[in-house]
Amino acid sequence: MDLIIAANWKMHKTATETREFCDSVIQNEKSFKGVEVLICPPFTALSAASAALKDSSVKLGAQNMHWEQQGAHTGEIAAPMLLEFGVEYVIIGHSERRHLMGEDDDQIRRKVNAALENNLKPILCVGETETEREQGLTERVIEKQLAGALGDLDLNKAENMVVAYEPVWAIGSGKAASEDDAENAAVLIRRYCLNNFGEKVVASLRIQYGGSVKVGNIHSFLALPSIMGALVGGASLEADSFRDLVQAARKAV
Ligand code: 13P
Repeated sequence: MDLIIAANWKMHKTATETREFCDSVIQNEKSFKGVEVLICPPFTALSAASAALKDSSVKLGAQNMHWEQQGAHTGEIAAPMLLEFGVEYVIIGHSERRHLMGEDDDQIRRKVNAALENNLKPILCVGETETEREQGLTERVIEKQLAGALGDLDLNKAENMVVAYEPVWAIGSGKAASEDDAENAAVLIRRYCLNNFGEKVVASLRIQYGGSVKVGNIHSFLALPSIMGALVGGASLEADSFRDLVQAARKAV
């Protein structure tokens, strides 16, 4: 299974900026071999990214989606709208959506199910806040988030899932998790999935680490036995920096 390095641009880049970035990144795609590379732009730039990446191996992801196929949900985006642009992955339950937009486990569970139902691969994000960590609640929080999101997982559709461990305190702070903390969380996620969903789901499950990943530290996370990729915010915004990250990741293959 390939490592998966995903750029989560959050609320950055216009369609024009996206086109420039993608044109630049795909010039180096030969040097990405063995690493699955994924760009998750804002919805308004999906069309530009889709056109720019059309003949490349770089894949397209979305940052969120609604669980309904269509309907009266002003401002929301449904899976068929993403599929039209060749979107393959969708980030679900990112901490900024949980904590800033009030998304709860029930909504996240519906989104995971809707993604799988539509043959989109979910990148489910889990992770504790700084306060929860200080209170020794990290494991409990991750297990609760997994149970909430994956409660009625359809095991027939649950292949190729990605779970990203993103401790909230590490996101955008410049303070990445320690290797031990990242590995412990990944082992917990893998064990939870094995106990609840069995070998088949775990065989194709990839666990990413996210939170202040940069060229200088990506290798140490990817060298961990249970981590198979990274979900990157800030360091994915410049084409050169993102290319360097992917090339650094490749050395871990
Ligand atoms: P940073 O890489 O900027 O810390 O963001 C991580 C993140 O939230 C990716 O989803």
